[in-house]
Amino acid sequence: MKKIVAFGASSSKNSINKELAKYAASRVPESTYVMIDLLDFEMPIYSEDRESEQGVPELAFKFKKLLKESDGIVISFAEHNGVYTAAFKNILDWISVIEKLVWCNKPMFLLATSNGARGAKTVLEIAHARISLENNNQIPIFSLPKYKENFDQERGITDRELMDKFESSLKIFIKNL
Ligand SMILES: Cc1cc2nc3c(=O)[nH]c(=O)nc-3n(C[C@H](O)[C@H](O)[C@H](O)COP(=O)(O)O)c2cc1C
Repeated sequence: MKKIVAFGASSSKNSINKELAKYAASRVPESTYVMIDLLDFEMPIYSEDRESEQGVPELAFKFKKLLKESDGIVISFAEHNGVYTAAFKNILDWISVIEKLVWCNKPMFLLATSNGARGAKTVLEIAHARISLENNNQIPIFSLPKYKENFDQERGITDRELMDKFESSLKIFIKNL
């Protein structure tokens, strides 16, 4: 059994990206998944001064350990002002000073959704470009536009064409596991 860790890169309790990440992780055969809630990893805002004065918070090591112990990572990105949410970026900054290989070279599946027509594509492209630089795996992506219209809690992705795109990205992730 492969062990997947998944999370919505969001600070919302009712995050639509958390739902999409969970959906993607649940569709990997012969695997179990653990959902990480970024709200459980709130830390002071990263600064080099804070790091040298107080060190890296224990929560950052805890987060990193979850990544390390997984076989694959699923992230669905919320877009705030065209980029990562502050909640995600802060965790990223803290874990990036622990070790150079932030995502431990694990197979990853990157997604994003919003209720707009672009489906948070901007942040997804930023994340994909950055993460691909430091990962030897081909990293599949999937953006779901108009979440309210195209996603159903029971049935998942309801649009045929979007579902086909999702499936082909999921296939790459599964192959890499
Ligand atoms: C401060 C703020 C900035 C936002 N900026 C964007 C944006 O740049 N692009 C976008 O598609 N949606 C933007 N949104 C709307 C989010 O996509 C929407 O809140 C979505 O539900 C976030 O995903 P989540 O539910 O997983 O947190 C913004 C929302 C907030 C609160």
